[in-house]
Amino acid sequence: ETDADDPDCPESLIVVSNRQPYRHEYEDGDGDERSIAVDEPAGGLTAGLDPVVREASGTWIAWGDGEADFAVTDENDCVAVPPGEDAYTLQRIDLSEEAVDSYYYGFSNQVLWPLCHEFPDLIENGDTWSNDFEWYHTVNERFADAVATHATAESVVWIQDYHFGLAPRLIRRQIPETATIAHFWHIPWPTPETFAECPAGEDVLAGLLGNDLLGFHVDRYARLFMECVEQYLDGAVVDRDRWIVDYEDGTTHLTTDAMGVDADTYDRAARQDTDVDAVLAELGVSPDVTLGLGVDRLDYSKGIPERLAALERFFERNPDRRGEFTFLQKATPSRTGIPAYQRLGELVRSEVTRINSRFGTDDWQPIVYTEEYVSQENLCALYRRADAMLISPLLDGMNLVAQEFVASSVDEDGVLLLSEQTGAHERLGDDAVTIDPTDTDGVAAALETALEMPADERRRRMRTLREDVFEADLEAWMDSQFAAIARLHGSRESTDEQ
Ligand code: ADP
Ligand code: G6P
Repeated sequence: ETDADDPDCPESLIVVSNRQPYRHEYEDGDGDERSIAVDEPAGGLTAGLDPVVREASGTWIAWGDGEADFAVTDENDCVAVPPGEDAYTLQRIDLSEEAVDSYYYGFSNQVLWPLCHEFPDLIENGDTWSNDFEWYHTVNERFADAVATHATAESVVWIQDYHFGLAPRLIRRQIPETATIAHFWHIPWPTPETFAECPAGEDVLAGLLGNDLLGFHVDRYARLFMECVEQYLDGAVVDRDRWIVDYEDGTTHLTTDAMGVDADTYDRAARQDTDVDAVLAELGVSPDVTLGLGVDRLDYSKGIPERLAALERFFERNPDRRGEFTFLQKATPSRTGIPAYQRLGELVRSEVTRINSRFGTDDWQPIVYTEEYVSQENLCALYRRADAMLISPLLDGMNLVAQEFVASSVDEDGVLLLSEQTGAHERLGDDAVTIDPTDTDGVAAALETALEMPADERRRRMRTLREDVFEADLEAWMDSQFAAIARLHGSRESTDEQ
């Protein structure tokens, strides 16, 4: 909830993100008879930002990716949302199939995503990236043009994530000097050695230095960004003590702010009297097992095959756990147009089948794997029920699932096993059981530790984790971002008055 009188909530806010807060979809029916339904923001950042943009009566600019999205927009591709309330303007950018292939599946997700997650081998090859980069530039320019049509001298532009590495500089050229541009980079920043593999790396650095403020989840990513600027961008002056970069005629301030989740909402959802045994039964899990849980987008950065290898080792080492412990893995297919994601899906499914045929019995499977949609209420019930939550990314900017698990653990008896390679580990590492996701034996041993941990120790750890997750929640993150923006915005305006 945002206070209208909150001095830090900008009066003229323009949010830019790839994903949109509201999608219009056709429902059953034919031709003009078809009715249109609207999805609500699904959770996470979009749901968290929505009330802020409402309060500011702002503008949100995003890719319009739903079939029916453009059936409801005006000639400028704008629609008033939420439906019936008309609190703010959503401007949808209509992208051709070719643009989506190159900008989203191409440069965003086959160059920047593998680059920033330290998978240089998965970066697409030279034959395709230059075409994809041109489209990335074109799409960034279209978003920048859209921002310029809405921006005033008082505007704060707030850009989300790696889909818009070039937009800040393109926006800066077109909007009043007094308007402020801030950007949050939600994924890691790579080492200079890896960044050397980035085609058009200099353009991306220069693009991002069009921002007045650039935010990361943890200090390490901001430091690596400064190192990359020093090494690869001629003419940029980095002040490593003050976290400031001067480039051409602008100054970019770097900040770190670990994003949180809407902890109260997860806590409340977990306390509802959902019949968790029925949810488990539906998935084929017996209600009396000791339960391990994994919840991830099906992405190679999440370390799912490594997790399965550790589970196999765990069942080898602990024959007495066979029939008694079940690991439930909920995976959400993602970016399935990309070969690396297709290969990952195939590998994960075949490994689950192999491990299950090795240890499974007529009435028990060691790993229950599902790609079915799980409602937020059922997800929270599963988080609450889980005895051990296994989060094993090879690299992850933050990892919100870890925090959602903690916020949902209202009985304070579950154990969080958390990869040291996540942004979340910087905050929660002390009271989670730390794992190195590539150490098969180590993860198996950590799971043993977690399942044998005395109740009082589990409670002590979970209490501390919950204090952190409730204090540094999504609202705190937004307040802190807006406070940093307001400080800069104020100084820009006063410079202008002089
Ligand atoms: P990423 O952003 O890389 O996918 P995060 O852990 O930071 O990873 O955020 C993932 C978000 O997607 C969380 O809010 C999580 O609850 C949600 N999510 C993932 N899988 C599911 C699922 N099967 N059902 C519902 N929500 C899911
Ligand atoms: C990560 C990215 C987000 C992205 C999300 C889902 O969290 O940081 O920007 O929206 O993954 O990926 P998708 O490609 O489906 O938007």
